[in-house]
Amino acid sequence: MAIVLELTTLATMERLLTLFFYISVFFLPFPDAYAQSNQNMSLGTTLLSSSPNNSYWASPSGHFAFGFYPIGSGQFLVGIWFNKIPEKTLVWSANRDQPVKNGSTILLTIDGWVGFTDSQGQQNWIYNGSDRVNSGSMLDTGNLVLVSSNTSVIWQSFEYPSDTLLPGQNLAQEITLYSNHMDGDYRTGRFTLVLQSDSNLVLYPTNRRFIFPNGAYYWTGTDGTKSPVYLVFNQTGAIYLLSSTNHIISIISSHLVNTTEDYYQRVTLDSDGFFRQYSRQKSPDSSLSWTVVSTTPSNKSACGIPGVCGYNGYCVLDQDQKAKCLCPDKFSYLDPSYPFSGCKKDFITGCEGYTPSNYSMVELQDVDWPNGDYEMLTTDKESCKDACMKDCNCDLAVYRVSFCYKKRLPWLDGRQDRTIGLRALIKVANGNEQLKIAKQQQRSLIMVSEFLIGFSAIIFLLSLVVIACILKKRAGYPRVPSSVEPIEINPISNLIPFKYKHLFDATNGFKDILGRGSFGTVYKGVLDLGHQFEIAVKQLNKVVEKGEKVFRTELSVIGQTHHKNLVQLLGFCDESDHRLLVYEFMHNGTLADFLFSSIRPSWGERVELALGIARGITYLHEECRAPIIHCDIKPQNVLLDKFNIPKIADFGLAKLLQHDQTRTDTDIRGTRGYVAPEWFRNVSITAKVDVYSFGIMLLEIICCRKRMDLGQDDERQVILSDWVYDRFCEGKVHMLIEGEDEALGDLEQVVRMVKVGLWCIQDDPSMRPSMKIVILMLEGIIEVDQPPSSYVSAR
Ligand SMILES: *[C@@H]1O[C@H](CO)[C@@H](O)[C@H](O)[C@H]1NC(C)=O
Ligand SMILES: *[C@@H]1O[C@H](CO)[C@@H](O)[C@H](O)[C@H]1NC(C)=O
Ligand SMILES: *[C@@H]1O[C@H](CO)[C@@H](O)[C@H](O)[C@H]1NC(C)=O
Repeated sequence: MAIVLELTTLATMERLLTLFFYISVFFLPFPDAYAQSNQNMSLGTTLLSSSPNNSYWASPSGHFAFGFYPIGSGQFLVGIWFNKIPEKTLVWSANRDQPVKNGSTILLTIDGWVGFTDSQGQQNWIYNGSDRVNSGSMLDTGNLVLVSSNTSVIWQSFEYPSDTLLPGQNLAQEITLYSNHMDGDYRTGRFTLVLQSDSNLVLYPTNRRFIFPNGAYYWTGTDGTKSPVYLVFNQTGAIYLLSSTNHIISIISSHLVNTTEDYYQRVTLDSDGFFRQYSRQKSPDSSLSWTVVSTTPSNKSACGIPGVCGYNGYCVLDQDQKAKCLCPDKFSYLDPSYPFSGCKKDFITGCEGYTPSNYSMVELQDVDWPNGDYEMLTTDKESCKDACMKDCNCDLAVYRVSFCYKKRLPWLDGRQDRTIGLRALIKVANGNEQLKIAKQQQRSLIMVSEFLIGFSAIIFLLSLVVIACILKKRAGYPRVPSSVEPIEINPISNLIPFKYKHLFDATNGFKDILGRGSFGTVYKGVLDLGHQFEIAVKQLNKVVEKGEKVFRTELSVIGQTHHKNLVQLLGFCDESDHRLLVYEFMHNGTLADFLFSSIRPSWGERVELALGIARGITYLHEECRAPIIHCDIKPQNVLLDKFNIPKIADFGLAKLLQHDQTRTDTDIRGTRGYVAPEWFRNVSITAKVDVYSFGIMLLEIICCRKRMDLGQDDERQVILSDWVYDRFCEGKVHMLIEGEDEALGDLEQVVRMVKVGLWCIQDDPSMRPSMKIVILMLEGIIEVDQPPSSYVSAR
């Protein structure tokens, strides 16, 4: 008998374990027909891949099953799946990277362990801890639980997710989801979701943990929250981060789905890197399918994940909004069976013997490779083509609204991008000659491509590294983003060009006025996009002289900003003399109304507001393609969304960025009281003017008081900054927040914020910190020195 033979060769402890395994199988009675049974799995239970009646264990209602999941070519995964629908969607697997062949067995041993043997008899444990399992059950929630003899749960599949969470399955800190390799290929893929021990929920490429920079493409920025925190996926489909005191600290998705009685739900880290929430009617009707309820990152625009397509390829979203990779004409996939691997060109380029007439420029509408330009020209499209053609270094030019960006191979982060008039102009070899030369070079090409395939992960990640540089994280800090907040990096602008009539209807004929500014009036509107979507439409006053150019440049610059703390521009209208900008609607009004109303926002909320705004400005100053100076930071220009997340608004028309960051005209921009003193002097204007305005606003946030309050009896109290400065010098900062217990209990933070505010409103711009430093100081990561006494009244 096989076991006896085996015995003679047993030597190590490991093999002894195998023996136990066999003994358990062979010497206990085989229960039969488990597939249909609702009883719990008891000791000695086995499931056999070869037995159709006994290859899985169904939950009492039959919705879920645990057992052998066939993945084709005679292979199986040990997993859990939706068993009543024809898709049999897999939600968990114990061996995604090592499928077993037919002839394998799952067993619950008499020793209280659970595992499976493959067809060779090699065993793999699912659970072999010191507490003995007494029975197991496949629950109707999709959770496989193993219980001890005193009925306590000692192991459950919900705690070891693969790529999917089910309703009720909460993710604890340091538990990781890994995407699949490709749809239908369940091997560990390229993306990871983890709720870090610092309470930040982060999406980034696999194996990049603790590597700086790690190329994260989404994070909640909730680090620093008092641990522990859970990611909750509740029964009605809301996904959020919950603190130990049951406070929701960040909402990932609030799209509630239909009743759980009729609908299945799941949320899966898909192989294209998106964290998608799905629902499906429970009916086994095969014409039904899973529909997407929410997507994270929630870029409304195309492929928000940088580098998803490797080198030279570009990403488009297919009709299911999944990322798909394409190669330009005369390029082909590095690995034809894996389109995410990137593309190689099928011809040669380069400066050696370069003859422009051997090449031509091919246009690709709405495709962008946004990074890695080595030269930018301001020109029209034809001259852009010519410029690239004449330059042997130029392999690609991206043309967008009178800007021509020249790039060399390899190209990174390609994707479809339906912004106004964007075109990729690609240089390709004309005829066979170049291809023939390419043939001769094929050997080296093959070698290169093998290298590339072998290191495809590294290459992919390198491309992310480039992007990650924009994040400018704290040097030497190896954790995933902490000082910066969730930017959906790679701002893809996807502005919608609206018809005037459309906006006229959406705003009900421009009736509902939300506010008036110096450059136009803002109206509320509702778009019907299948569901009602609220918008704010800004109608610009008669556009001034340079209007046309300003409007376009603004659109291309601002359309590209994408940050949690900036109001998102959705689209525009540019029709005869109508100039309108369409923004997302902000439910909770302006920061001014929030701060200066009769009910003070809590101290904690104010600290968060200050940080959020600082992050938004930092992004404008340092993280955009071209730095943007807002020039009009004030509480009236900060809007709050449903969750009171501050969003900077009105970084619009008149406050145009300057590429050289110096002043080109003499108009003072901004609002009295928030305007930096250098506006009144004949000196250059830099981003420090925003720092000044932020400083004034920070003091307002700390004190919940307007910068000027004529109702004060004491003259020194009329100007807020004077009053704060005096109290600070007297060491009586607590007087600023009188009667606020929460703030008084956090006096250290109050003092820190006051000091930051006073630094920001220094008269001399060079004394003011950059916004990035402001964030680090507000977060308490770097010490704040005593502000100098060179304070000049901000009157
Ligand atoms: C099966 O196990 C579940 C969970 O441990 C338990 O609630 C249930 O009572 C058990 N059923 C039987 C029939 O033992
Ligand atoms: C799920 O969370 C949402 C948002 O907090 C809440 O409205 C809903 O009632 C919750 N559902 C359940 C079943 O707890
Ligand atoms: C919810 O149910 C309604 C009607 O029963 C249906 O039209 C809608 O598509 C469902 N929503 C989801 C997210 O499944």
